[in-house]
Amino acid sequence: MAQIRFHATNERIENREEAAKYLESQGVIYERWDISRLQGTLQEEYALSDEQKNDILHLFKPEIDALSAKKGYQSADIVVLSEKTPNLEQLLDMFVKEHHHAEDEVRFIVDGHGIFAIKGPADGVYFDVELEAGDLISVPEGTRHWFELMEDRKVKAIRLFTTKEGWAAIYEEEATANPTNA
Ligand SMILES: [Fe+2]
Repeated sequence: MAQIRFHATNERIENREEAAKYLESQGVIYERWDISRLQGTLQEEYALSDEQKNDILHLFKPEIDALSAKKGYQSADIVVLSEKTPNLEQLLDMFVKEHHHAEDEVRFIVDGHGIFAIKGPADGVYFDVELEAGDLISVPEGTRHWFELMEDRKVKAIRLFTTKEGWAAIYEEEATANPTNA
């Protein structure tokens, strides 16, 4: 279950309903998807073949389709970050810089953990959302954020896109056009 940590005070919201309510108040979509259908290799393996990635996407097809119908997402893929990722440090350096996108950033955590640090679009307050397996988050377009791994230094996640071009990172707060690819 996702937990919230406020940067300024280090206060946390650990209660499930309260965390969900807070995210809703910031316009951030949060859902729990049942991961009990994931078994063995598909959950544990971080060097996935294309076939295994498709198997994972197929397992969560009902939830992917439902959310995509609601929000207009057009495609899905799997992203894997772990110590086995050759350019892990370079990728993390990029993800940890504050940025926004011209479309929602949608992640469903299949295994591992991740933190989205978000500048609340409703009130400008910075907070972390600590995500674990089964958590789905959609950070709204234009919302300033960055991403970090947690202690286990690994995450396997489903990403949903409206267009892959729309997900390019925009690092300057005021910029809305000419995004750099990242
Ligand atoms: Fe992002």
